[in-house]
Amino acid sequence: MNTLTKSLAGLGLGAALSLTAGTALAAGGGGCGTFVNAEGVEEHLACSTAPIDFTNKGSLQNGAKIFMNYCAGCHSAQYVRHSRIAKDLEIPPELVEKYLMVTTDQIGDHINAEIDPEIQASWFGAAPPDLTLETRLRGDDWVYTYLLSFYEDPSRPWGANNLVLANAAMPHVLHNMQEELSAEEFKSEVGDLVNFMAWMAEPARHDRQVIGFFVILFLLVLLIPVYLLNKEFWKDVK
Ligand code: HEC
Repeated sequence: MNTLTKSLAGLGLGAALSLTAGTALAAGGGGCGTFVNAEGVEEHLACSTAPIDFTNKGSLQNGAKIFMNYCAGCHSAQYVRHSRIAKDLEIPPELVEKYLMVTTDQIGDHINAEIDPEIQASWFGAAPPDLTLETRLRGDDWVYTYLLSFYEDPSRPWGANNLVLANAAMPHVLHNMQEELSAEEFKSEVGDLVNFMAWMAEPARHDRQVIGFFVILFLLVLLIPVYLLNKEFWKDVK
């Protein structure tokens, strides 16, 4: 446990960087919460940096697969259509229909939870929130760290607790995956999942950043002739 929290804390710098880069604000004004360590001292948990890369279609596709298989049973993503996943992630619609449509048989449908959230609220004590905009609400790094921070806790109803969201009502649904994979592989899978969730929250994010870069570059270049023109116009005016 301690090594996990230390390695999470070690990557904390990334949280600050992603905040300055203008990604969504992490909940609670940055950081991933506090917890009481084995010595009974309260420690601050720094967020790990989620590997967000919308140009990596393989990662997004794998993330979509994990999301549909491990999350859509309980959580909806009601603003995303399956057909949009097929188009943006470059997955042939037949494959989406075959492997990614777990809660509907119409490719134009939004992603609805398999089980009614109200029924789930009575099972878990809290209804699983819609996840479409989750990474905008909490920040990519918060979600990434949250998914990496489940630990065994026999006192909880599902035998698992979470460092980021203390007493989370959500079971550790990736438990089997974590058991089967090495720590690095597991992080990479969760990274793909969060990459997909970030795409889902704002599909145009990558384009926006690229266009933004060129707009600023254009304005900077434009500054040169504008400055020279300004000098020229005013040169005779004392
Ligand atoms: C068995 C049902 C179930 C499954 C499957 C499930 N969740 Fe959850 N999830 C919940 C419940 C219930 C909550 C509410 C937790 C709370 O508020 O304590 C939750 C909360 C969350 C939250 C925190 C929301 C917030 O902002 O407070 C995130 C993020 C999340 N889930 C992501 C996922 C992801 C990603 C997956 C797939 C890997 C997943 N969940 C699979 C039931 C589930």
